[in-house]
Formats: sequence, structure tokens, C-alpha cells
Amino acid sequence: MKGVVLAGGSGSRLYPLTKITNKHLLPIYDKPMIYYPIQTLVDAGIDDILIVTGGKNAGDFLRLLANGKEFGLSHLNFTYQEGEGGIADALALAEHFADGGKFCVILGDNIVERNIRGAADEFRAQDRGARILLKQVPDAERFGVAEIRGDRIIGIEEKPARPKSNYAVTGIYMYDATVFEKIRTLVPSARNELEITDVNNAYIREGSMTFSNLEGWWTDAGTFDSLLRATNLVAKTRHSDAAMEFPEAPAPAR
Ligand code: G1P
Repeated sequence: MKGVVLAGGSGSRLYPLTKITNKHLLPIYDKPMIYYPIQTLVDAGIDDILIVTGGKNAGDFLRLLANGKEFGLSHLNFTYQEGEGGIADALALAEHFADGGKFCVILGDNIVERNIRGAADEFRAQDRGARILLKQVPDAERFGVAEIRGDRIIGIEEKPARPKSNYAVTGIYMYDATVFEKIRTLVPSARNELEITDVNNAYIREGSMTFSNLEGWWTDAGTFDSLLRATNLVAKTRHSDAAMEFPEAPAPAR
């Protein structure tokens, strides 16, 4: 299965941090933001990856990531989104890359604690349709929110004022190639974007949407507070991993 990282958009909620660079190049603890979603895909056994970006700093991604050697990859693919048409508009650019096969999409500002390989393997075994990853959150109104009946999702609402559940739709989506036909039927939303939630609802109507619950912490990083939260979560995890690795570590010399 191939992978796609969506790293376009204007990052307007982070202005002026995004005045001179792309949101996905901002630091999260000790790495640029885009390193995390790439690593998430690699850890799920995905080694053929497309980066979709745009704006004035698109060339910086090539300079930063080159051919993906830091991730153990031998090659990376890049494409350019003109304008800011939303997540589904960016995804449409992956049609040539997908080449009729299934793929996993991750938003470039989504950072997860644990491996998503289990969900990826379940989707590899799923013959068609889509699979999304859900996470229970206290502030569901900030996200796409799934309404669940039994073991099925019956609908998703994008940033509802009164969420019907506390299950946020994370920015990790797995699709078959029919996603591109679905994108072609979309019309722009009130914020003038092609919404990924509309794509997902098309799969739900068709009866081919499944889901997995995401394990470990999850955050996006598109606002000042979530950017800080992402850094803090990564730092905390890194320190606790180090403490587990060196439980008897002596105090550093002064
Ligand atoms: C997007 C999606 C939303 C999803 C979120 C996850 O929101 O539209 O459904 O829950 O990503 O990060 P955005 O933050 O791009 O507005």
C-alpha cells in the first residue's frame, strides 16, 4: 500500500508563524512537523510516499527531505497543489500516483504516539472501500465527528456546534481508488474548500466505510494551542522512552 502526506494549505490559523514558511516545516520538539506523519507511514510498512504541498515554500520540502534517506527510504515523490482548495482538492492530485491501488493518507499536521500498522493491515485485507481512524476527545467540536450505531459509522459532521459523539475523525484515512470519482462529485463547502468529510460520507452512504480506534495519544498542530500541545506530547514521550531505556541513569555531571 502506498502513502500520501498532505502538506499544503496556508496555515492561516498560525499566522505570523506561517508568514514566511509552510506550517508543516515548523518545529515540533526536535524535528520539523512533516517528519512525524512520514515516520507514521514508514512505521506502518509504507515505503512509497507522495508529499503534496503548495505555496511559496514548496521547494524547501525537497531540500529538507531529499529522497527520504533519514527515514530509510530510497525515494520520495512530490507534487504541487495550486491554490488552497482544501484537503480533498489536495488529495485529487494523488490520482496518478495511486495508479488504481489502495493508499493511506495522513494530514501533515497529525501526530500520533503509536504505530498504525494494525489498522493498515486491516485495510490491506479489506477488499474495497475506506477505513478511518477515530479517537475519543474532549473537544470534538474542533474536528470531523463520527456518529456511530453499533459497529458502524452512520455519518460524519464537520466541526459541529453540538457533536453527536466524542469520536473525532483523525487525519488518517485509507482509501481505494474510487476516492477520485467521489472527489469529482464534491462541491465546495461554506469555507470554500472540498471537504474530506464529504468524501468520507460518500463511502458511508455506499456502505463501504470501516473504522479503527487509534491507540495512544493523537493531536493535530494547526493552531497555537495544538502546536504547543504537540511539542509537549512528543517531548514527554521522548523523555519517558529514555527513562525506560536507562532506568538507572546517573544524574548528569555539573
Ligand atoms: C481536518 C478535517 C477534520 C479532521 C481534522 C483532523 O480539519 O477537516 O475532519 O477531524 O482535519 O486533524 P482542519 O483542522 O484541517 O480544519
